[in-house]
Amino acid sequence: MTAEKDWIKDLVVYQIYPRSFYDSNGDGIGDLPGILQKLGHLEELGVNALWLSPVYRSPNDDNGYDISDYQDIMEEFGTMEDWDRLQEACQKRGIRLIMDLVVNHSSDEHPWFVESRSSRDNPKSEYYIWRDPVQGREPNNWASAFGGSAWEYVPERGQYYFHYFSKKQPDLNWACQDLREELVAMMHKWADKGVGGFRVDAISYLDKPLDFPDSALPPQPDGYSFPDCLAGRPGTHAYIQELNRRVFAPRQLLTVGEVSAPHVEELCRYVRTAREEFDMAIPFVPPMVEIDTWSPQKLKRDIEESWQALREDGWWARFFSNHDKPRQVSLYGDDGAYWEVSAKFLAMFLHSLPGTPFVYQGEEIGMTNLKLPRIEDYKDPDTRNRYRQLLLSGLDPEAALARAQLESRDNARTPMQWDATENGGFTTGRPWLQVNPNTRTIHVEAQRQDPHSIFQCYRRLIALRKEQPVLSRGDFAFLETGPGEPLALTRTLPPEGLLGIFNFSRQPCQVPARLLERAGEPLLSSYDREGGWQGPALRPYEAALFRWKPV
Ligand code: GLC
Ligand code: CA
Repeated sequence: MTAEKDWIKDLVVYQIYPRSFYDSNGDGIGDLPGILQKLGHLEELGVNALWLSPVYRSPNDDNGYDISDYQDIMEEFGTMEDWDRLQEACQKRGIRLIMDLVVNHSSDEHPWFVESRSSRDNPKSEYYIWRDPVQGREPNNWASAFGGSAWEYVPERGQYYFHYFSKKQPDLNWACQDLREELVAMMHKWADKGVGGFRVDAISYLDKPLDFPDSALPPQPDGYSFPDCLAGRPGTHAYIQELNRRVFAPRQLLTVGEVSAPHVEELCRYVRTAREEFDMAIPFVPPMVEIDTWSPQKLKRDIEESWQALREDGWWARFFSNHDKPRQVSLYGDDGAYWEVSAKFLAMFLHSLPGTPFVYQGEEIGMTNLKLPRIEDYKDPDTRNRYRQLLLSGLDPEAALARAQLESRDNARTPMQWDATENGGFTTGRPWLQVNPNTRTIHVEAQRQDPHSIFQCYRRLIALRKEQPVLSRGDFAFLETGPGEPLALTRTLPPEGLLGIFNFSRQPCQVPARLLERAGEPLLSSYDREGGWQGPALRPYEAALFRWKPV
């Protein structure tokens, strides 16, 4: 990041999944006027950036990540005037509005695709990726991320088109210069309208190998294999650099790339200043991978590794949650006995790390996963596909459903819980996706009034970041701790310093005296309701922040 772009270090980003935030007109679907009505919630929290998941016109095969008109608003969400009003209101409150930019693919209902598929020689013929059949079949063995082949046959052209996501999300052909011109012009129009940045969706797959070789990865249960030479090709980085040069840099936009980065060197390629790509990156890891491999030690190693790699040059997007992951308190914390303390614990841990914190709607009140009783109750295409693959691999329906309940992206997409009424105050109609019945106890209204709520913990953390530049600018280190000891970290920006100790477990643990030697005044504790830090042991999921004297 260049010195002039230092302001990104002061952001706290709140992500809204518009479909599930607040419904203003009783049709069961969240919308833009709903967001406008609830902007006070963001203001109270203290965030200064808002990332909106897609609100463009879309037939909603993948909840707006399938765009049929980049210059218009989804009917269910409202109108362009509603968007303008929201943008204006954000501006007044000092909230930077960040749009999701989905340009790896469009909807198959986008007029470009409708034209492209009609014949081989129309003006938009090259806007998508078309290949002839090979021996009467798909051009190669690649699997779509959402199941089945990544190729779909179109009789009008006698050809297949490539879709890395669902078949209603055909990949755009970035090799086509005319297409790139349209996309760049579109981005400029949004910048003209006052957009403050883009979260750039699924951006690692823009460049495709011309020959589309078969993948050597083992097949999925349905016979297709995930691509082994698609993500992070040099050509993709070149396209991102072109966007940076032509749009991001001249318009001074904040950019967050959603990237597939199997190791830290690849992550660096997207965010090192000299490469002129993104300000920060959200590495995408499929939920099932995290559920199976996650541990506090691994988390610590990953944080340490990305810190070392980017501390001289680069920046971090910090998040535990988004619309593609299970709820953080259910995944990394304990949504039962330690629900409140573990939710605060995770907030305190994340907000102590170097980088820009992202808060996903509902995490600030500790919203949890929801186990829906039948697979038909799940709306997410990814969940349904995974379920099908698990059945094909021989799992019985009950076990496959249990897995879906754990992994489903719908866990994060249940409507926001505003109050204790049946639909959580989200809608007066029938919600598009079931509201978690625990809205009777977990909701915004109660937590706004309760000085010891999770919501208040988030407010304090965000306020602390504003008061103490050590959190946004300070140096970072994990202190050496052994097994059975808490995680400990320091942030330093002389003369200021901060110490955080974290017991990432359900067992109490002793805090070695050496950790507390330089600790000053306790600032915040996940046990504030119980009177705060008492020492010398940490209770289950106890997190404590102290002032610290840097040497
Ligand atoms: C990204 C989005 C996800 C979407 C996919 C396809 O991973 O976060 O929700 O399904 O891209 O656009
Ligand atoms: Ca609505």
